[in-house]
Amino acid sequence: VKSVTLRTLRAKYERGEPISMATAYDYPSAVHVDQAHIDILLVGDSAAMVVHGHDTTLPITLDHMLAHCQSVSRGAQRAFLVGDLPFGSYELSARDAVGSAMRMLKEGNMDAVKLEGGSPARVEAARAIVEAGIAVMGHVGLTPQSVSVLGGFRPQAQVAGEAMRVLHQAKALQAVGCFSIVLECVPGPIAAAVTKALSIPTIGIGAGPATSGQVLVYHDLLGMMSHPHHAKVTPKFCKRYAEVGATIQAALQAYRDDVASRSFPGVRYSPYSIKPGEVAALE
Ligand code: KIV
Ligand code: NA
Repeated sequence: VKSVTLRTLRAKYERGEPISMATAYDYPSAVHVDQAHIDILLVGDSAAMVVHGHDTTLPITLDHMLAHCQSVSRGAQRAFLVGDLPFGSYELSARDAVGSAMRMLKEGNMDAVKLEGGSPARVEAARAIVEAGIAVMGHVGLTPQSVSVLGGFRPQAQVAGEAMRVLHQAKALQAVGCFSIVLECVPGPIAAAVTKALSIPTIGIGAGPATSGQVLVYHDLLGMMSHPHHAKVTPKFCKRYAEVGATIQAALQAYRDDVASRSFPGVRYSPYSIKPGEVAALE
């Protein structure tokens, strides 16, 4: 039995305690996030970018997401597991959306799904999934799956009209039964107003300090890609809690040097012995 459920998340929200969320994509990252007692583990479609090296989240398929979800579910004992519905798996019809969400639970072992956007069609998809008995997390503001119409990854709701739209979308998603909503890359005052207007927790990323919780991407918060020449930059809103990439790079270079100089394995890492006299038989 999980120790983080919709009931315990709800209780935290009602006590005014911040909810923590981080992404993970495979068995070791799931173990790490789970053992840190982070409340919600998101198998994000950001996997397309941080694991598979794509420039956007668009290429990842439902089957790829399911493989990530399965690996994560083997590593997480405690956290509440949310799986991202990828681009193309829920937009065509509410029927598609329910089918994809069911696979995330039945095959991916997720506890809930997340979908992007708050247009009427997306709200209907969320409603249909909730009616099928599956918990749904919404996601408004910057919705990376809409990069084609947004014209790039840029902050949202910086003008009043857009801010009102984000608020209306969040309310509509709450009205059809979403248990929580991610607010991505919106000004702090907008996130504060949305959080105040809702009676479900908001989870912010690049949305300031007033949301009910925070989420960051695993590779970003750990400083995985610290190479100065590397194209994948850490977003401005992300605090780097470690420089794991630099640690990994130094270890790999030390290993390469040890092999080149024959200082590895040496006697210390050559554990298998043969009885004296037996070697002679080889010669
Ligand atoms: O895919 C992802 O990592 C996300 C979070 C940034 C919310 O959707
Ligand atoms: Na995502």
